Amino acid sequence: MPKKRKLAFIFGTRPEIIKLSPIIKLCQKKNIPFFCIHTGQHYSYTMDEIFFKELDLCSPRYKLHIRSKAPYMQGDHTGRMLIEIEKILLKEEPYCVVVQGDTNTAFAGALTAEKISTTESYTGRYIKVAHVEAGLRSYDRLMPEETNRFIADHLADFLFAPTAKEKNILLREGIPKSWIHVTGNTIVDVVKQHSLAARQKMTILNKLSLQKDSYLLLTLHRQENVDSKKIFANIIRSIEKIRKKTNLPIIFPVHKRTTKMLDKFSLKIPDGVIAIEPVGLLDFLRLEMDAKLILTDSGGVQEEACTLKVPCVTLRNNTERPETVEVGANIVAGTTPQGILKAAKKMLKAKRNWKNPFGDGKTAERIIKVLMQ
Ligand code: UD1
Ligand code: UDP
Repeated sequence: MPKKRKLAFIFGTRPEIIKLSPIIKLCQKKNIPFFCIHTGQHYSYTMDEIFFKELDLCSPRYKLHIRSKAPYMQGDHTGRMLIEIEKILLKEEPYCVVVQGDTNTAFAGALTAEKISTTESYTGRYIKVAHVEAGLRSYDRLMPEETNRFIADHLADFLFAPTAKEKNILLREGIPKSWIHVTGNTIVDVVKQHSLAARQKMTILNKLSLQKDSYLLLTLHRQENVDSKKIFANIIRSIEKIRKKTNLPIIFPVHKRTTKMLDKFSLKIPDGVIAIEPVGLLDFLRLEMDAKLILTDSGGVQEEACTLKVPCVTLRNNTERPETVEVGANIVAGTTPQGILKAAKKMLKAKRNWKNPFGDGKTAERIIKVLMQ
C-alpha cells in the first residue's frame, strides 16, 4: 500500500468548517495523516466553535486569529493570512493543501501553497492544491468571492467540481481535463449525515413556537447587500411586504456582519420578523427543512434548500448555483421589493418535486479517493 500522504485543511469561516467536515472526518476514520489550520476569519462562538462541538471535529492544530476589518481592508486581511500560513506549511510540509469555496481564507491557503511550490528549485518543496467546490462562477467581479474562487481554481492541481456544469466552465477556462473531478457537493453529505438528528433531536421549533410550513426563514450577509444602506433597506422593505402578504412569521438568524451593518445604518427589523443569534447547524437544518419558504443571499443555503426540497428565493442579482434555478428550486429575485415579492409569491406555490443536482452524499469519499491515488 502506498504511503499515505499528509493533507493540510485550511479553513476559517462557518461554511468552510461545515463543508469540509465530511472530508476531515473521513481522514480520521481512514487514518489518513492530516492537520488543520483555522485562520480565525470567523471567531464568534455561534459562527465557529459551535460547529466543532456539533460535528465532533477535532480542534485545529493551528489557530491564527486573523480577523477581517470588513467592510473594508480586504488586502490587509488576505495578506496577514499569507504570512502566517506560509510559516506553518514550511514547517509541516504537507503533500497537499485542501481549501473549500470562495473566502479570503480559501484564496490565501491556495496562494501560499503555490508560492512555496514556486521556490521548489531552491527549497525542494512542492505542495499541491486541492479546491473543493471548484468551477462556480457568478461572473460578478465586484464580489470578493468571485475573485477568490477564480484564482483558487487557477492555482489548484485537483479541482473538485460539484456538477458537470462547473467542469465545463473550468474546461472553457483552459484547465486540463485530467485535473477536474466531478464529485458532487459535500453539502449533500452534510445534509444526509445530520438531517435525522436535526429532525429528531432539535427543539428549536418549540422554542420559537413554530410549526412546520407556517413560517419563512431568512438569512442575509452578502457584502454587496448589507454593506450598501440603499440595497439593505430595500431588502428589509421587501421582507416587510412578504410578512404582511403571508401573515407568517419570518425567522432571521442574523449573521455577525449583518448585525454590525444594521447597527451602522440604524436600520430596523420589521415587526413579525424574529431576529435571533446565528444558530448551530442542526438547529439551522431543522429550521430549513420545516420552512414554507427560504429567503437568502447565502450560497450554502441555496444548496441546502434545494437538497432538502424547500423552495428558495435568492436575494441577489445572480447566482453561481444556477442548477438550483434550472431544477425549479430557486428564483434569483434581485434586491428590489417588486422582484422579491413576485418571486416569493411564485415560490410559495412551487411543487417540491425537483431532483437534487448536487450528488448522492458520497462526495467526501470521491475526493479522498482522488487525493490518495
Ligand atoms: C465571509 C466570506 C463569504 C462567506 C461568509 C460566510 C470573504 C471575503 N467573505 O463573509 O464569502 O459567504 O464568510 O459566512 O471571505 N464577524 C464577527 N464574528 C465572526 C465573524 C465575523 O463579528 O465570527 C464580523 C467581523 O466584524 C467582520 C464581519 O463580521 O468584520 C465580516 O466578516 P468577514 O469574515 O470579513 O466576512 P463575512 O461577511 O463573514
Ligand atoms: N448556517 C448555520 N446557522 C445559521 C445560518 C447558517 O449553521 O444560523 C449554516 C448553513 O446550514 C450552511 C452554512 O451555514 O451550511 C452557510 O453559511 P453562510 O450562509 O454563512 O455562507 P455561504 O454559504 O454564503 O458562503
